[in-house]
This record gives sequence, C-alpha cells and structure tokens, in this order.
Amino acid sequence: MATFANPYVGDENIKLTDKQLMQAIRLDIAGELEAIYVYEAHILATDNPAAIKVLSDIRDEEKSHMGELITLMRYLDPEEMVHFLDGEEEVRELLGIDADGNKVSAATVGSLKED
Ligand SMILES: [Fe+2]
Repeated sequence: MATFANPYVGDENIKLTDKQLMQAIRLDIAGELEAIYVYEAHILATDNPAAIKVLSDIRDEEKSHMGELITLMRYLDPEEMVHFLDGEEEVRELLGIDADGNKVSAATVGSLKED
C-alpha cells in the first residue's frame, strides 16, 4: 500500500493525538491486510517450494502484525474494544463456539437464512 499521501509518514515533528493515532493504526492494519493478500497471491502463483516456504512465513508474520495492531487499538480505545468484543460474541453465537473455537452449542447460522 502506497503511503506517500499519508500526512503522518516521515514527519518527525508531528505528535498524534490518540484519535489520530487510531486512524493511523487503521491504515496500518489495511497495509498488513494488503501484504497478506499479495503474499498469498504469490504463494498461489508458484510451485517453487523454497518461495512458498519463505513467503508463507512472511505472510504469517504479517498476520501477527495485524493481531498486534488490533490489540494496540483495544488498549488505546476501550470503546473500540467493546465493539470488537460485541462482534466476536455475535460470531461465536452464530457458530456455536467458545472463545477458543470449541463447539459449545448448535450453530444458529442456518436460522439466519430464514430471516
Ligand atoms: Fe507487517
């Protein structure tokens, strides 16, 4: 993702407010998602085992970065965390799983199709 138009990049004198920092982190997350997408595309486009191994490792590191950034957002903005947790709980209920992904009840996803 090109960042040349981003006013926060390369300006060493600027100090972001927390609100600006949250916006910057959202852009950072978008960059991580794009990197994951591109590495995955390159993995799918080659049969070279060495390239697949290295690119897969890098792709997975980008996934870790995304998790770090989301965790930082939760720390910086507790209200954001409430929304994240609401979304997580909603999906867990739909899928009938607990926080670790273990099946705990019948999925309700099928009932959504009737709505
Ligand atoms: Fe990254």
